[in-house]
Amino acid sequence: MAEGIVYLNGEFVPASEAKVSVFDRGFLFGDSVYEVIPFYRGVGFRLEQHLKRLRHSLSALRIPLEKEWQGVLDELVRRNGGGNVSVYLQITRGNAGRRTPVYDEHMTPTVFACCSPIRDIYAAGADNIAGIRVIVTTDLRWHRCDIKANGLLPNILVLQQAREAGADEALMIRDGVLTEGGSSNLFMVSNGVIYTPRLSSEILGGTTRELVLELAREAGIPLQEADLSYEQLLGADEVWISSSTRAVLPVLEVDGQQIGEGGKGPLWLRMYELFRQFHQRLMSGEEL
Ligand code: PDD
Repeated sequence: MAEGIVYLNGEFVPASEAKVSVFDRGFLFGDSVYEVIPFYRGVGFRLEQHLKRLRHSLSALRIPLEKEWQGVLDELVRRNGGGNVSVYLQITRGNAGRRTPVYDEHMTPTVFACCSPIRDIYAAGADNIAGIRVIVTTDLRWHRCDIKANGLLPNILVLQQAREAGADEALMIRDGVLTEGGSSNLFMVSNGVIYTPRLSSEILGGTTRELVLELAREAGIPLQEADLSYEQLLGADEVWISSSTRAVLPVLEVDGQQIGEGGKGPLWLRMYELFRQFHQRLMSGEEL
């Protein structure tokens, strides 16, 4: 495969030529934020919602950066073949030339973006989407999980724990309340109602989560944002996770215990179909 083109501080360059200083605060302190944005056939999916969250993350870290992102990201995707890719966009506070926790508010942020291929989960069709297994483990993160920051060590550790248990994702629990997955939001279905943890600084406001809520409301499917327990999870008829590159995925097993009938539930199928229709409308050029 040809080497990818990345974007670094205003330039499009081959990945092997992109270099960042060892004194960059993103490297030294994880003083940075990021987004992962899917593009299908070169078109950004929920781009506006991702950019809104990016502005929230930047302002929470007080990184002053105003930029017209769409042109940059569209161009990056075009230079990488314009197909189905996820764009990784990272902004660090910048390079201070030395290691010091104190920062100067006039620093120039480092801006990096690259693409990686993804499968078009909407073209795949429901039959070709595999259900996943998850574990539940302690949420070890800080209390500003609403910021999409790069300090992802807890997420990496719980994902590894899931892998070692033969599972695909780890759901996290804090003080008896389920928060979210290591890189996804959580949903469950009981008696025809969709439940999801309510937004707070303990979870990331997922763009896919938001779309699930929008589509459920439009379709008149009852939903509730609530504090959810481990017992409710195990007793649910259906469990799903959501994220930008995976849309909504059915969870078949939690900690080795079967959920509902152990297959893809009827409400998951309905939600997948609503996502697929939304995606089709977007691809046909409709303003959504
Ligand atoms: N992660 N919660 C966490 C902790 C996440 O890392 C993510 C996404 C989500 C879902 O957000 P969205 O629907 O906007 O993708 C929820 C990305 C995909 C990642 O880190 O790779």
